Amino acid sequence: MTSAPSDGAAEPAAGTAPSALAPREERGPREAILEVRDLVKHYPLTQGIVIKRQVGAVKAVDGVSFELRRGETLGVVGESGCGKSTLAKLVTSLEAPTSGSVRFKGEDVTRLSGRALKALRRNIQMVFQDPYTSLNPRMTVGDIVGEPFDIHPEVAPRGDRRRRVRELLDVVGLNPEYVNRYPHQFSGGQRQRIGIARGLALRPEIIVADEPVSALDVSVQAQVINLMERLQDEFDLSYIFIAHDLSVVRHISDRVGVMYLGKLVETGTESEIYEHPTHPYTQALLSAVPVPDPDAEDGRARIVLDGDVPSPADPPSGCRFRTRCRKADERCARQEPPLSIPEGPGRPLEGLALHPSACHYAEEEARGVPD
Ligand SMILES: Nc1ncnc2c1ncn2[C@@H]1O[C@H](COP(=O)(O)OP(=O)(O)O)[C@@H](O)[C@H]1O
Ligand code: SF4
Ligand SMILES: [Mg+2]
Repeated sequence: MTSAPSDGAAEPAAGTAPSALAPREERGPREAILEVRDLVKHYPLTQGIVIKRQVGAVKAVDGVSFELRRGETLGVVGESGCGKSTLAKLVTSLEAPTSGSVRFKGEDVTRLSGRALKALRRNIQMVFQDPYTSLNPRMTVGDIVGEPFDIHPEVAPRGDRRRRVRELLDVVGLNPEYVNRYPHQFSGGQRQRIGIARGLALRPEIIVADEPVSALDVSVQAQVINLMERLQDEFDLSYIFIAHDLSVVRHISDRVGVMYLGKLVETGTESEIYEHPTHPYTQALLSAVPVPDPDAEDGRARIVLDGDVPSPADPPSGCRFRTRCRKADERCARQEPPLSIPEGPGRPLEGLALHPSACHYAEEEARGVPD
């Protein structure tokens, strides 16, 4: 047995955490490759063992809309249980939504079945969170990376598979000679490279990466993120990159969506979200992210999020965040704030980096009105 080699030998040493890297250069707008509208996934809650009765529903995803443009990365961030993985499964057609649509190049994929669905799945691939459990320990790396060709033999004829698999390993910075090794013979970062090679096998246009670096050490996270950026440029990929930590997605994302209890509560460009957040939840998440400069750290107010996330089976009335929001008032309990660009009271609010935020008081935040 070969011992697990250390991480990232093949990628140029990054040496820096992703959060410490400068944000990516902003790129020009391109066409929307994916349009998600009012997406809902409710899991029935049942009682009884023999006769099952539905007693409610877990509102895992509860009305999510966004666009993904070609070649861009949309970061999706939120605490555990807010519906990120469910959203990923809906977008990749691994699960069917309760309602809503997912359009890939204009076609609603939630209505497809049979061959049309299979063809579509080729184009939208998932990279999973945990490289320790998502790879079958009894399969060789070659079989794991080449498995998608069993489902889509048209992509790689039998005689060509071995060459294709070796090429894929090379592309993700792994030695093609490792093709007969087993997952346990690799380090965490290398296993995630195997997962990425597998995700690339069918040459998809979109990759949904569900917390691809959450299980990895910080230094290895940066290497995997660098690899994903290189692959994005090389293959013109569009990414939905999911994380529970805002610092992880900052470097790779062109735009970011912040999720809370099954909904997006704020969306914007990298600078709108990190420099001008208007939703109290985003502000609280950002205040928990350590900054590299100790002086800046001293002067910063840390917003503590009180209490636990409420159950998605019974979300609070009005604004779902109100039970943990330092600004909540009676209106917040009564009225649900839509995810919309805040409008000023009778006067234009130009130049304030306005972007969609689901808070009644987003406009005051954008103008910098004190609490
Ligand atoms: N198959 C399922 N059946 C019932 N509830 C589920 C199922 N999958 C997820 N959930 C629930 O939906 C909510 C969102 O889960 P998930 O999408 O995994 O969140 P995240 O990835 O953000 O941690 C959680 O409360 C979770 O328990
Ligand atoms: S609408 Fe109210 S409870 Fe919700 S985030 Fe804004 S201030 Fe807080
Ligand atoms: Mg998850």
